[in-house]
Amino acid sequence: MAHMSEDSRRLDLACHPISKLEDLRTVGEHQAPAVYMLHLPAGRSDSDAAASGSAFREIETFCTGLPEETVVSILTTPPDAARLALVLESVLQLQLWVAVKLKPEAVAASEGGLPENHAALLIFSRYRGALKHTKTRIGYTYCPACGKTTKDYGGKKHVYHEYGTLMSDVWRDIACDPRRDIEGIADRLRDVFGLEPYRTLRLLDMRSCYALAPQRPASPVLETELPMEWDVRPIPQNSRLVNADCLETLKGIPDNSIDFCFADPPYNLEKKYDRWNDALESMAYFDWCDRWLSELARILKSGRTLAVLNIPQWSIRHYRHLASILKYQSWIAWEALSFPVRMIMPAHYALLCFSKGEPRPLPGCLLPADPMPGDLLALRESFCLRASCIAQRQKRRVEDRADITDLWHDIHRLKHNTRRVDHPCQLPPQLMRRLYAVFTDPGEIVLDCFNGAGTSALVARQMERRFIGIELSTKYHELALKRHEQIERGEDPFGKTESVPESKNSRVERLPRQKYKVSKKALQLDVRRIARQLGRLPRRDEVASLSRYPIEYYETYFFSWGEVCAAARTTGMSELPQDAVSADTLQMGLRFDEG
Ligand SMILES: C[S@@+](CC[C@H](N)C(=O)[O-])C[C@H]1O[C@@H](n2cnc3c(N)ncnc32)[C@H](O)[C@@H]1O
Repeated sequence: MAHMSEDSRRLDLACHPISKLEDLRTVGEHQAPAVYMLHLPAGRSDSDAAASGSAFREIETFCTGLPEETVVSILTTPPDAARLALVLESVLQLQLWVAVKLKPEAVAASEGGLPENHAALLIFSRYRGALKHTKTRIGYTYCPACGKTTKDYGGKKHVYHEYGTLMSDVWRDIACDPRRDIEGIADRLRDVFGLEPYRTLRLLDMRSCYALAPQRPASPVLETELPMEWDVRPIPQNSRLVNADCLETLKGIPDNSIDFCFADPPYNLEKKYDRWNDALESMAYFDWCDRWLSELARILKSGRTLAVLNIPQWSIRHYRHLASILKYQSWIAWEALSFPVRMIMPAHYALLCFSKGEPRPLPGCLLPADPMPGDLLALRESFCLRASCIAQRQKRRVEDRADITDLWHDIHRLKHNTRRVDHPCQLPPQLMRRLYAVFTDPGEIVLDCFNGAGTSALVARQMERRFIGIELSTKYHELALKRHEQIERGEDPFGKTESVPESKNSRVERLPRQKYKVSKKALQLDVRRIARQLGRLPRRDEVASLSRYPIEYYETYFFSWGEVCAAARTTGMSELPQDAVSADTLQMGLRFDEG
């Protein structure tokens, strides 16, 4: 098993075949609170709403009758998950959207499109408030080339657990085939919910309840030329950066004129933007989103793609609106490799892709496989992303690449300040490189209506696409212009910088930059020693009297007492389990190297 759940009393498993929707009513008669898993039909993701609509209503009725403490999980395709979540929102609370990797035999290859490589596991509760579950960890995996963990925990190994990292909302360590094999998921749920008052995981097999309908062809759309009204230095003649409100600006762009529309909007999560209130009332936020999404749909050329990035919960709303005006294409799950911070850490974003009418075969899926450009190749899952190891692998010509699917796990969010400019949330350029490589050809025109610090337009320029970037804040707009000047001077706008950006990605205050007399790690390990001596976490006065180091260090180097005690609360991980490394390494014909 690839996970370990603390203090879990494993649930029994009861399987209920549901051949007709009415059978749901008899299963719902159990009055003891249970954990349910509804296994819906698998098939093409763009199923017809009519085919599943009555099933969704029956599921809603079933959930309405369930006792207060019940947990309901539902395994289905991402677009069906979005539609079902909207139906169930009045009776259940959506707690988690988990992207579960598919087994190779279940990956749906689509002609000229991205292969579908993940299913959606929605986890709802009947109760309000935080989801109750066991503390579950996923075992570390080790790169067969360098032997280090596939995720880079940097100098923080002493604050992590020896077994593994807290589970996230992307499950790649187990894989499922929704048509016939979901054992790994059921197995995990039995442990994750192995606590009071639950005894049983009830698995409702609804695969034969209804069939997914074929897709309807869409009508073709006319194309027109794009006039250019905005012109600023140092942007090339064929592209534009606009400092204005996106809704106003989009109105001036003709119908059917853009080859790829992209949006990385404010997520309404109270980020501190220069000119935008990121804490709108949620209906106002979604109304606003619907308006610019409609504009993007209007200006998109026929057969081309609109991609919108957001957290999975908000993407459900975007899905509903976009499905009413465009054709569903792909649901890309981008696992942005966060550090473990919560019991089940949110680690992925949804990149929702819709086309205008029938999608054209994707440019990136038409290229010959040999030689495939790097932006169109994913990293094989067993390898790490450390720059030093990647360089070694290239030198030794290690086969570490795999075909791209709709599950992206190898692009890190920007984690180092040295790579960030003064904007609270910038995307990694690699994400845009891959999107352009898949969805566009050189020379085509791409539009980002939330240009921010300019990532998408800068990458477009580097990849010889034309671009329009719209940004409300003059500060960010000018920042983006400066980065275009860097390109003109032959500099890398994504290179390392010396200055620490003022704006921050998280709400935790930043401490002033300082030189440490003793490393933070040494201080935390000393607190671990004291905790072992006392048999519990120490208080401040105890650290003051028992530590080898002055208490002022603890007070000035850390944000909180929790951070001071971080290493005392866990075992610390060991980096190199020799047996695991040697087995994988031998199997792949690699020489072990700490590199
Ligand atoms: C999530 S950030 C985009 C970051 C960008 N992808 C990058 O990598 O730098 C969203 C941006 O939208 C901008 N914004 C908010 N409301 C806007 C509006 N009505 N029109 C145009 N831009 C807006 C914000 O100022 C912010 O820079």
